[in-house]
Amino acid sequence: MSGIMRIGRIEIRVMDLEKSADYYKNVIGLEEMARDEERIYFKAWDEYDHHSIILKKADSPGMEHMGFKVENIYKLEELEYKVEQFGCSVSRVPHGSRIAEGEAIRFEIPTGHVVELYCDIKQVGTKVGVINPDPWPDNLRGIAPHRLDHALLTGEDIETVTRFFTEVLGFRQSEKIVTVDGEQMIGSFLSVTNTAHDLAFVKGPDKKFHHAGFHVDNWYEVLKAADILSKNKIQIEVTPTRHGITRGQTVYFFDPSGNRNEAFASGYITYADFPTITWTEDQIGAGIFYHRRELVETFSKALT
Ligand SMILES: [Fe+2]
Repeated sequence: MSGIMRIGRIEIRVMDLEKSADYYKNVIGLEEMARDEERIYFKAWDEYDHHSIILKKADSPGMEHMGFKVENIYKLEELEYKVEQFGCSVSRVPHGSRIAEGEAIRFEIPTGHVVELYCDIKQVGTKVGVINPDPWPDNLRGIAPHRLDHALLTGEDIETVTRFFTEVLGFRQSEKIVTVDGEQMIGSFLSVTNTAHDLAFVKGPDKKFHHAGFHVDNWYEVLKAADILSKNKIQIEVTPTRHGITRGQTVYFFDPSGNRNEAFASGYITYADFPTITWTEDQIGAGIFYHRRELVETFSKALT
């Protein structure tokens, strides 16, 4: 066990901070937790830590960094050593660089994305509390997902980034997409918990962000998410459907800066002894969108 517990945060670059804040607060339905001059911090209602989404004002959209939460400082130091051994240069993000966060280690993964590992962040709890809690709090707004669920990123070398996450950070590969001849891996779905994926990569340009997925309860909540999006005149890229890969239920849409978001439900749970499921490239349409069995054109092209 590497000590990584889960995905902890994604810092998203947005062009119009106020417009984006309104979207993440009222359409996605996150809670605004804090703000400073260039960032606004949000959490989903069912998350205990201070924030999981950070919006950062920038000239172009994309992902500034993603962070994984580690059990404790000892595991964090072990991971720091292993990341350096792999050949990545690691820097330390000092305590207090962002609101409510302690020290983190920061490095570039083989696809050029910036990843942080940390164990220290202020825990604020949820509105339902931990003693005889109700199933949800009053006054939820928008889609109101339980939590940040996963991210999909693109990169040139899917084999190496998979090796980095499995060998160095202790992830397991739940599914992969390979060319028909089996020679090359072009998609990789990775889990460090028991969900079908906490992070995934598909072949494409380095450093690009494909989407952030938010967890909702079930198929009806995916449908309702689409209703809320349409009601708010938000561009829906793919209306509610099922993924072949992960077996999740999904709707895809864009934030005001063009960053793709997803409301994601279900998906199987996975255990350490499960084999990796393989999809061949000729079946990628069904793998991604099980009903239409083909990709929509924007899906591989709209990256931030
Ligand atoms: Fe997703």
